[in-house]
Amino acid sequence: MARKKIGLIGAGNIGGELANLLAQKQLGDVVLFDIPAKENFAKGKALDLEQASALSGSDCRISGTANWADLAGADVLIITAGIPRKPGQSRDDLVGTNLPIIRDVADNAKKHCPDAFVIVISNPLDAMVYEYKRRVGAPREKVVGMAGVLDSARFSLFLARETGASIKDIRTMVLGGHGDDMVPVLSYCTISGIPITQLLGKDVLDGIVKRTRGGGGEIVGLMGTSAYYAPAISAVAMAEAYLLDQKRVLPCAAYLEGEYGYKDLYMGVPVVIGAGGVEKIVSIELNAEEKAMLAKSADSVQKVVDIVKAKS
Ligand SMILES: NC(=O)c1ccc[n+]([C@@H]2O[C@H](COP(=O)([O-])OP(=O)(O)OC[C@H]3O[C@@H](n4cnc5c(N)ncnc54)[C@H](O)[C@@H]3O)[C@@H](O)[C@H]2O)c1
Repeated sequence: MARKKIGLIGAGNIGGELANLLAQKQLGDVVLFDIPAKENFAKGKALDLEQASALSGSDCRISGTANWADLAGADVLIITAGIPRKPGQSRDDLVGTNLPIIRDVADNAKKHCPDAFVIVISNPLDAMVYEYKRRVGAPREKVVGMAGVLDSARFSLFLARETGASIKDIRTMVLGGHGDDMVPVLSYCTISGIPITQLLGKDVLDGIVKRTRGGGGEIVGLMGTSAYYAPAISAVAMAEAYLLDQKRVLPCAAYLEGEYGYKDLYMGVPVVIGAGGVEKIVSIELNAEEKAMLAKSADSVQKVVDIVKAKS
């Protein structure tokens, strides 16, 4: 059986780490795509990573290109094209710059690799994945946004550090939009099945929720640009679930058609990812406070989507 082909649209910080992880896991051959001005950069990154395979033992090929024809037949596309945040910026501040970029990517992807399972990472995430799906006209099974896996990973880390528990035993779920009012759903967070609310007091949990919501901004403040290691491994978990038909339940931005009371909107909800792409949106019960937080988050996402629609 031929190796799968994985296209990475954007060969920047996240794109490079994605290529590294995908090759080390031997999930498929990787094509690192960037704009013509960065073609040599993409080629150089690909060559550096291929040379690493002499030590990692990966047989996967990694190439760099600025030619969409090289993406033909891709099984998976992971999109990071666009600019990241700088200190003081919100994700929503990126909409003006990243909207024409996601449109350009969508038009080319539709032409060159219409059958790929697509994971969008570019910010503002929920609006960018919405616009990608709308522009390509792809079914919702094939287009998903990465945010909840990352936000949940951040939440898990802070809980592990607070409790001293192993990160392996922590299960968290962060739903809603990928913004400052994302919804860490405490009623579904456990340490080996023990509800976190039985282990930590309200004040401590409130502090951890606040740090999780600002988790991306904390890193932008420290580094001057967005995080990339944790975002990359989060998207790889989603790609792996698709490529290996794992049927994993992961919090992802999915296109809602009435689930949770929302329609024609992308937002973070628990989904099953397997060979069929987004095979199912799992509806879980939320308490009144969680529902109210989700409504607030959905409202924020809708405002950015409205900006996108107005620029049609
Ligand atoms: N969803 C999330 O959880 C999450 C987390 C972190 C970062 N992000 C977002 O991911 C995006 C990428 O972040 P990064 O740190 O890799 O940025 P980066 O600047 O390092 O890389 C982005 C790359 O996209 C390329 N690009 C621009 N226009 C393009 C086009 N039309 N076609 C192809 N490539 C194009 C740029 O040349 C650049 O190399 C940003 O928008 C950032 O905000 C999202």
